[in-house]
Amino acid sequence: MYRYYVNIYLANWIIFNFWGCNDMKNVLVLFGGCSSEHDISLISASSVIKNTPKEKYNVLMMGITRNGRWYLYEGDVDALPNDKWLETGKLTEAFVSPDRKIHGITVCREGKYENIHIDIAFPVLHGKNGEDGTIQGLFQLAGIPFVGCDMTSSAISMDKIFTNIVADANGIAQAKWDYITKYDFETGEKTLDDIVSKLGFPIFVKPANAGSSVGISKVYNNEELKVALYLAFEYDTRVLFEEFIDGYEVECAVLGNDEIKTGVVGQITPANEFYDYDAKYINTASILNIPALVSKEKQEEVKSVAIKTFKAVGGIGFARVDFFIAKEDNRVLFNEINTIPGFTSISMYPKMIEAAGISYEELCDTLLTLALEKWGINS
Ligand SMILES: Nc1ncnc2c1ncn2[C@@H]1O[C@H](COP(=O)(O)OP(=O)(O)OP(=O)(O)O)[C@@H](O)[C@H]1O
Ligand SMILES: [Mg+2]
Repeated sequence: MYRYYVNIYLANWIIFNFWGCNDMKNVLVLFGGCSSEHDISLISASSVIKNTPKEKYNVLMMGITRNGRWYLYEGDVDALPNDKWLETGKLTEAFVSPDRKIHGITVCREGKYENIHIDIAFPVLHGKNGEDGTIQGLFQLAGIPFVGCDMTSSAISMDKIFTNIVADANGIAQAKWDYITKYDFETGEKTLDDIVSKLGFPIFVKPANAGSSVGISKVYNNEELKVALYLAFEYDTRVLFEEFIDGYEVECAVLGNDEIKTGVVGQITPANEFYDYDAKYINTASILNIPALVSKEKQEEVKSVAIKTFKAVGGIGFARVDFFIAKEDNRVLFNEINTIPGFTSISMYPKMIEAAGISYEELCDTLLTLALEKWGINS
């Protein structure tokens, strides 16, 4: 009997060490987060977890609550949407250690600390505290390879004022714009008249850092402008103004580190006057078209400006770059870059990539491979 067990052990050891099973990578998928886009992250992350190839990766799930508590979650992935995972009792307090020797997470089980090695982190977190460079900085500090843009490119891309500055500096065409800080507005250093005379009505008013159209208004006169500014100040002390572009909204998925691929260009026709929160997540009448309903030449132009923008911000891994095509003169105008775009199985980013021949599962694998390529070598 004893020999039988020894043989089984030896067989397993041989399989594990010589047939590549030891190449299994521990992937940490982070979901939730302190962000207005917490709910969409739960759905994006559950799609990622289900589609990460099981023969290559061992997925660990780490949830961040709306209040910023971190847990290792060892329950069913289907409990992520609507925050059901919080009610399962399968949570253990845990955090990403900044200590490079640990290279992973520290879990606190019944008063004892246990470290788990992580090969790659995949922050499936949208908006503030997830897409803005904060968590990317933590992974850089910890020396853990992670999917997507680094700290600097994430921070630039999240901040609409800095993104516009980078676009201007790189000759990427966009709407005329200006910005104001709360302090400059309150002290009269800069006035709304300055903005109106530069841009003319209608004007788009946007907090520099937000997402999902939260705090964004389209205004037609001075009174509305003031109300919109105070609304935007609820989300950020720096506010961006843009001239209104009457255009078609098109989006382009980019994928890669140095050699960058694009998906098929898509188009959004919002259900409302603009693509506000309601048109994005509640009103189902918004129309998505892949390919976009514009000429092949325009689609090629969008792709090349998307790659240029991705490079200009120092992008890594993936991003969705959004544009307007002006109805008046057909110009391609950059709107914004999302460094962790919506990633549910029906979201634009994976759908545009899928239309270019890469399945959702292949996409997850590619993103993890790109992360290792980027950070595995340099870290
Ligand atoms: N200058 C503009 N001209 C016309 N429409 C605009 C302009 N800026 C924004 N919009 C409209 O407002 C929507 C939201 O703006 P924007 O994409 O900048 O915000 P967001 O909150 O960052 O969205 P996301 O969730 O994509 O990050 C756009 O999709 C578009 O419909
Ligand atoms: Mg947008």
